[in-house]
Amino acid sequence: MKAISVRLLLAILFHAVVLEAAYCQAQLDIADYTKYALTQEGDAAKGKAIFDSNRVACSNCHSIDGSRDRSAPDLFAVGDKFGRREIVDSVLTPSARIAEGYETTLILLDDDSVVSGVIRSSTAESIELLVATGQVLSVQLDEIQERRGSAISIMPHGVQSILSKGEFNDLIEFLASLKQYESSAITQKGMPNPIDALPRSIDLHPIIDESMQFEHPVWLSSLPGSGDHLVVIEHQNRKIWTLRKPKASQAPTAVSKQLFLDLGVGPPNAGRLACIAFHPSYLSNGKYYLFDRVTLEGKMVAAVFEHQASDDRQRDSGRDARLIVKVPQDTGGHFGGWLEFGKDGFLYVSFGDSGPQEDPNGNAQNRSKMLGKIIRIDIDRKANGKEYAIPDDNPFVDDSNTLPEIWALGFRAPWRLCFDKVTNDLWLGDVGQDRSEEITIVRKGENHGWNVFEGFEPFSNRFRRSNEMYTMPVFAYARRYGPSVTGGYVYRADPNSSFYGKYIFGDYESKRIFALSQKDRELGEVRQIGIAPQRIVAFGQDVNGEIYLVGYEGMLYRIDFSATEFQYVHKADSSR
Ligand code: HEC
Repeated sequence: MKAISVRLLLAILFHAVVLEAAYCQAQLDIADYTKYALTQEGDAAKGKAIFDSNRVACSNCHSIDGSRDRSAPDLFAVGDKFGRREIVDSVLTPSARIAEGYETTLILLDDDSVVSGVIRSSTAESIELLVATGQVLSVQLDEIQERRGSAISIMPHGVQSILSKGEFNDLIEFLASLKQYESSAITQKGMPNPIDALPRSIDLHPIIDESMQFEHPVWLSSLPGSGDHLVVIEHQNRKIWTLRKPKASQAPTAVSKQLFLDLGVGPPNAGRLACIAFHPSYLSNGKYYLFDRVTLEGKMVAAVFEHQASDDRQRDSGRDARLIVKVPQDTGGHFGGWLEFGKDGFLYVSFGDSGPQEDPNGNAQNRSKMLGKIIRIDIDRKANGKEYAIPDDNPFVDDSNTLPEIWALGFRAPWRLCFDKVTNDLWLGDVGQDRSEEITIVRKGENHGWNVFEGFEPFSNRFRRSNEMYTMPVFAYARRYGPSVTGGYVYRADPNSSFYGKYIFGDYESKRIFALSQKDRELGEVRQIGIAPQRIVAFGQDVNGEIYLVGYEGMLYRIDFSATEFQYVHKADSSR
């Protein structure tokens, strides 16, 4: 790697020295403002006006309604996320703790100028940066000489020189008031709050060497035929890899992987490979199925393709894929992303409401669309001009108002599901809109409520039908535990473990890992059992029932439950 250029080094030093100087001068003020804000009550309404004012321009960068329509973190529920002290610190000394995913990057351009900002998006040609003025700047990759991380937040420092102590305190009062409304529906259903954390977390063992990290992996499962080969999917690269699990006698991490299939990166923001399912007779027929989001005839679709593996079943054969089913998407979000064969031999596939927020078109309740549904199809037969047949016992085969493919409806973003290997229950983590993340068990013909309900709470009556029954989740959690649930698996490896039969899941953003028990879909107990080092994009399960965690930044971990117990703990503070 080439040495850091003198100019960029100077920029980094300058950056640090200037702030250090400002910081020293401001030290006394900071102590004074902090003490005031921790002892006096402010006026939240006045604080809101300050937040929106041009003097401090907070609202140039931050939204506060959960819409995340600005480039800095949405402060909706910041009063849940942080105590007053932490709120004060994050406004007075923004660089002391930089919010995850909002680190600053310094970039040296070809003309020797330096820009710094938070990278918000990138394509093969350019990146977009949020800069300190609140604007978003686009930089072409071929103009960049060099880039480096910086420990300085781009959020403006020194609000204490603009606001009086009283005004600052009002601003803090306003931020502290930004809490998620705790609905009675959640408490009535006995949703525990707080969720207790285990005194001793589960262990996460990396199964690959750091040098082998994947490029945004999103799926991990076993390759049929050999107990020790895993399959990993890369989301945007659209590559599938196999790797051999390290044996107990070997180094604990794998160091090599083999390419199974390379579909190539699609157009920006279009191609997303999400899931693989092997035919129950894969070893004899070599057929496997992919859930992919692609552009077909100029239209973005979520689609299932049938592929053919090589004779040794270790890679794709290179033969043309067959399109099985495609579902046109309204936006780039909530496309679903899971498919798996049931014990009945039929293929189950999940499709999301396809966005935008709130499902304004009512897709998830629309029975003539596959959006917001789980479908079930027979891949071994073809009928009625389709590439598949409808199983005779699908729930809506005799209902002329409902597509016969539909198995269950009313889902928003059903990204990760699983069948319990023992009970055959179909578990789903459905990502919520504003308030709650839901874990549910889905049965044939059920309507799980979105967007009439979000979790346990009524959301909108626009697409409500009279006499419709809506199935409630097993569990829902509020924003303070995270904004984006990732469904996992029921642990079925060691029958003597206290985690045996517990459903393991997590939150993509907060990285909390949870376990819960249930009976007849009534919640038993739920625990926070650990925190992941990377964003939890998926869990995986191998043929032995062991559970893995897939970090979106590239690492794969095996979850080791042996050092702790799924027991009841009375511990008040599990919020961090
Ligand atoms: C130029 C854009 C910008 C402006 C203006 C701005 N911020 Fe920020 N803010 C950020 C960024 C980027 C982060 C994340 C990096 C960090 O933690 O410092 C952040 C983080 C925060 C956090 C911590 C959030 C978390 O989840 O960790 C709080 C609280 C906050 N800002 C409040 C404010 C307030 C109050 C104002 C107005 C006085 C303000 N910000 C003005 C960009 C901005």
